[in-house]
Amino acid sequence: MKAKKYVVLNPFVGEPKKSDFTIGIEESLPALQENEFLAEAVYLSVDPYQRWQRDLSYPYDMIGGQIARVIESRNDAYPVGTWVMGHFGWRTYTVTKPDDERFSAKLPYLYRLPDFGDLPVSLGLGVCGRVGNTAYFGLTEFCKPEPGETVVVSGAAGAVGSHVGQIAKLFGCRVIGFAGTDEKCEWLTKELGFDFAANYKTVDLGKYLDQNAPKGVDCYFDNVGGEVSSIVMSKMNEFGRVAVCGSISTYNETNPDKMKATVLQPLIVGKQLSIHGFLVNRFADRTIEGVLQNLKWIREGKIKYRETIVHGFENAIDAFIGLFRGNNTGKSLVKIN
Ligand SMILES: NC(=O)c1ccc[n+]([C@@H]2O[C@H](COP(=O)([O-])OP(=O)(O)OC[C@H]3O[C@@H](n4cnc5c(N)ncnc54)[C@H](OP(=O)(O)O)[C@@H]3O)[C@@H](O)[C@H]2O)c1
Repeated sequence: MKAKKYVVLNPFVGEPKKSDFTIGIEESLPALQENEFLAEAVYLSVDPYQRWQRDLSYPYDMIGGQIARVIESRNDAYPVGTWVMGHFGWRTYTVTKPDDERFSAKLPYLYRLPDFGDLPVSLGLGVCGRVGNTAYFGLTEFCKPEPGETVVVSGAAGAVGSHVGQIAKLFGCRVIGFAGTDEKCEWLTKELGFDFAANYKTVDLGKYLDQNAPKGVDCYFDNVGGEVSSIVMSKMNEFGRVAVCGSISTYNETNPDKMKATVLQPLIVGKQLSIHGFLVNRFADRTIEGVLQNLKWIREGKIKYRETIVHGFENAIDAFIGLFRGNNTGKSLVKIN
């Protein structure tokens, strides 16, 4: 049996390019040893964090989560037919076992999917996986929204952002989202129940917040960083809470002069803001709790989701680059076949 995989050849400079990878390198898989199983990838996850890995030496096998099906097994806990989320990278087949040190740096790196019933298993990479948990734990643990408060979400039509805004609505908040096209903003307000949404590329965000958050912003869930975030934070109320989840507006920037945003420190002090950077890995031991909570909300029709699926293992880089061009709405995925 042979697996195909992506190898990253060199650090990304600016937007990732096909020439940064070797696509489809073949690797012979060993026969299964006691305790091991063979997993066949069905969906690959495409995520912004795959752009800013800084602790890996080159070349390295492309990292990433996948939803895979066990097709051979010598491990009773992972019988044939089991669906798993595995942090195996962009590869088609994987021989692995629990506590496999090749993958275990990324927590959680392996678990059996709960029964999704008639919902697609791809949700295990999105709303019922790492993305959903990022939204759920990031919002509830750091923004701690209260009913009636105003919550602003940037990157609002993406995988994490679209989920965050809906949870904030469940908590009884007034929710404002910023996204990169008018169509995305329409989806947020008309389908997902956001109170307001604006295109950050065309709207004066400061004026927009003055109009639509006249009592100020209590919570900010920040997916994009940069000047957008400085504007939002300049409109925050005393004791406002910021969850810094990501800063995608900076990931491809090569010009240090453009990596600057308005100075906020006096305002942070004056308003006594709480600003928390976080990684979802920190909640690895609560993974299934988050997955089951999000699954429950989806089954109850309280959370909606969208997936942007690129078909074909060879096309994963197109999906990856698409993240930085705003091509996706909701979770970006690659379906292998
Ligand atoms: N802390 C954690 O543990 C954790 C976990 C997951 C994700 N994250 C972070 O959360 C953020 C969202 O991740 P995701 O997986 O949900 O991705 P995503 O939002 O589904 O996809 C990326 C989106 O970012 C927007 N974008 C791209 N370039 C931008 C720019 N220069 N300025 C503003 N927006 C830009 C695009 O939408 P538009 O059309 O709106 O521009 C694009 O669709 C990322 O920063 C990611 O690194 C952090």
